[in-house]
Amino acid sequence: MNQQGFHSEFSADTLKGLSAKPKYLLSKYFYNDIGSRIFQDIMQMPEYYLTDCELEVFTSRHNEILSAFKADNKAFELIELGAGDGLKTKVLLSSLVHQKIDFKYIPIDISKQAVADLVQDLKKQIPDLPVEGIVGDYFNLIKKLNGQYRKIILFLGSNIGNFEWKESIRFLQHLRSVINIDDMVFIGFDLKKDPELILKAYNDPSGHTAAFNLNLLKRINDELGGHFDLLNFMHEEVYDEHTGTARSYLMSRKKQSVSIEKLGKVFEFEAGEKILMEISQKYDLELIHELAEKSGFQIVRNFMDSRQYFMNSLWKLKR
Ligand code: AVI
Repeated sequence: MNQQGFHSEFSADTLKGLSAKPKYLLSKYFYNDIGSRIFQDIMQMPEYYLTDCELEVFTSRHNEILSAFKADNKAFELIELGAGDGLKTKVLLSSLVHQKIDFKYIPIDISKQAVADLVQDLKKQIPDLPVEGIVGDYFNLIKKLNGQYRKIILFLGSNIGNFEWKESIRFLQHLRSVINIDDMVFIGFDLKKDPELILKAYNDPSGHTAAFNLNLLKRINDELGGHFDLLNFMHEEVYDEHTGTARSYLMSRKKQSVSIEKLGKVFEFEAGEKILMEISQKYDLELIHELAEKSGFQIVRNFMDSRQYFMNSLWKLKR
């Protein structure tokens, strides 16, 4: 999508979300260059266990994972949706190169900077890796994925959890419709666990998660002529252990009006009123099975870390 198209989508989504009751914004807009950098900081935090767990799965099980990927030894494209810094994927990539497996790595991310940094870094660290980075919104790029090679689509880090349930089914059904019968998807799921641990991961004392959320208000200021005073909003995290849904909010510290020039509107906030910024769904096996079933996939194999905090699930199309 061109910049114009992206901006009108950002404006339309912002207008819709801030006009809704209760108000919400879409977390897919967190990831401008600054937001992507803040997310790198989040992934380094000791409280944010997700990255370490998935890294452990890849490090301890890479041989089994690669055997499951290889299937019939035909060349494949390893396509990563929302690649970020590719830290965890590097473990699999090094192993694939080492085992001389015929493949190409195609990371896709909406941050131009993230893709450029990743490709540059990979060329240094794994010089023999065939890699081609693509910048864009992967919802749109998925449509263009039909090439001549078998595809394995990586959707890691529990990114799937940032969708509402119905949206995740729609996304996976869409993915299903653009891949072939011998393609596979490899998805990372954060599992339900002690609510304290989950809340700590999203309520960090260093304030990175708050900054991550507030950056979207700053982005609205910068790109849409918004007049949010970031000091007037506070981050709050809530976890519902029954549904497994963590929700991030920004709460208005006082009654205030905020105008957004490009939307030609003024938005009213009550003291204590919350904007829903992001959901981070946590799963169990039952939920993962249901998601696969409802979106037309079947589970090939699951891989878990030693603490059973995180699951990587390999899927193929349901026949
Ligand atoms: C990218 N996504 C899986 C992260 C999550 O855990 O929901 C985004 C994030 N939000 C706050 N911290 C991390």
